[in-house]
Amino acid sequence: MCNNYKTLTVFTVLLAANSVFGQNKMLIPDTVSGQTINLELKSGNHNFYPSKSTKTLGANGNVLGPTLMIMSGDSVHVSVKNSLKDTTTIHWHGMHVPANVDGGPHTFILPKSVWSPSFKVMDKAATYWYHPHLHHKTNEHVSKGISGFIIVRDNEETLLNLPRTYGVDDVPIVIQTKCFDVNKQIVVNSNSDSVPMVNATINAFYNMPAQVVRLRLLNGSSQRVFNIGFSNDNKFYQIASDGGLLDQPVLKTRLMLSPGERAEILLDLTEFKGKTVVMKSFGSELSNGIYGASNPGMGPMLTLDGYNPNPLNGSDFSLLNIYVGNTTKNAVTSILKDLVVVKRINRDSVDITRRLTLNPESMGRNQLNGRFLINSKSFDMGYIDYDIPLNNVEVWSIQNMSGIAHPFHIHDVQFNLLSRNGSPPPLNEEGWKDVVLIKPQETVEFITKFEDFADTLTPYMFHCHMLTHEDEGMMGQFIVRSQKTAGISFVEDDLIIYPNPVRSGVYIELESGNIMEQTEIFDATGRLVHSELIKGLNKLFLAFNYSSGIYTIRVSSGNQIVQKKLIKL
Ligand code: C2O
Ligand code: CU
Ligand code: CU
Repeated sequence: MCNNYKTLTVFTVLLAANSVFGQNKMLIPDTVSGQTINLELKSGNHNFYPSKSTKTLGANGNVLGPTLMIMSGDSVHVSVKNSLKDTTTIHWHGMHVPANVDGGPHTFILPKSVWSPSFKVMDKAATYWYHPHLHHKTNEHVSKGISGFIIVRDNEETLLNLPRTYGVDDVPIVIQTKCFDVNKQIVVNSNSDSVPMVNATINAFYNMPAQVVRLRLLNGSSQRVFNIGFSNDNKFYQIASDGGLLDQPVLKTRLMLSPGERAEILLDLTEFKGKTVVMKSFGSELSNGIYGASNPGMGPMLTLDGYNPNPLNGSDFSLLNIYVGNTTKNAVTSILKDLVVVKRINRDSVDITRRLTLNPESMGRNQLNGRFLINSKSFDMGYIDYDIPLNNVEVWSIQNMSGIAHPFHIHDVQFNLLSRNGSPPPLNEEGWKDVVLIKPQETVEFITKFEDFADTLTPYMFHCHMLTHEDEGMMGQFIVRSQKTAGISFVEDDLIIYPNPVRSGVYIELESGNIMEQTEIFDATGRLVHSELIKGLNKLFLAFNYSSGIYTIRVSSGNQIVQKKLIKL
């Protein structure tokens, strides 16, 4: 009785205040809906700590960005104004959009300029997100605060009896850990990410009604894997993975969420009125070889600088205190038995199986401090790793040969997991995904189809979503090529570049007889330094007055593309 009374009093006080007893009311991002979306990236200040101001980056505000509410089937017109001092990009993570509006590392938005992509929303109802993707700078721009939710709705989801009142019973929660210096400024590239937060709120609380609530969880961390659960071992139901609803709600008490992954869960708070339910990460239960476990590497031998003193590793910590209050009108009070029918891609229709490996750059005890590679190669912006025919159905079989788990992410498509080490995936991974955590020594297979968009000029990315790994080159790229317009095929040997090395001018010739349509020059960092549209020629002279170094010349014709390296003396 006495206890109950106390809880209720505290609860009432909390309802009204933004900060009580060292707890802070969780920030809920504003929403932007409709077909015109304006974003402005800017620097700002945010009070992660009550009396200290931290320099941040945000979209339309000081930190994070507004939640974009969009409807499948709509065309959206976005304008991203870059008011940062830095060049950046904005990528629509998980969405199926043409390569030239995907916002990968090739699609720079220079400071003071505006990028205006338009695209049709072709995705299923689920939770997606947007974030910067400039090569070498992704971690910095995300860590300092830029990322936002994208909530896609569709007709199928609308028909289901699910909570969908934003900020009330349908709550977006981006989970992150950050490292702060003594002045409470954000330190990038750190394994000392000892401060957990949800929606940029440390020690967060939030009031939720005593009914079924829907939490849209996003791991927006640079590196850390969370093992989500609740204080009373409350059961919850996962209803959606990265790119869509599941067939049925999957009952769980723990949910592992790796960087980039999303999960929508239903939590039944009906019985908890007046009580507190704490959302936590149970790091003590993570197996070694996952960033967040007591040991970052599989086996006791591997070390990672800064990891062991970090108190979050291998321990359980709170993310959000949920104060359960009154039931709302039109509350959802039960959990559906069935959601949608996931139309998985059939294995019989596979055109090709690609085998990829995730490797450390150097083996041995210190491997976790070094760079990681894909197919033993570091990212090269001027090199296309895979040239994929439009409409190809592919199995990607990815083997982790390193000592730490990597969340593998691919752009353009959603995939279905086929297996983990030869066994069928767990139920909650049987729907649509765009990130999959691959543990040390594990081989994961997924199936996907590269449909709708072909573009030989702008590649799509695949990479590890640990942002430190990605920035250091654990990334590759592919183009999707339409078959209809293929023309006479040509190979790298047909591209003649002379003289090479070059002093001041260079001839570029396509020997196959194909007409060159576009010639591009990339510098060693992958930056496009020259692009020329030429029609009707198969030989071209270019003045070459760039600084000394290695360049990539890329020539395209029809939907084919060849490239070669060139040395400038
Ligand atoms: Cu979340 Cu390539 O990105
Ligand atoms: Cu992405
Ligand atoms: Cu990685």
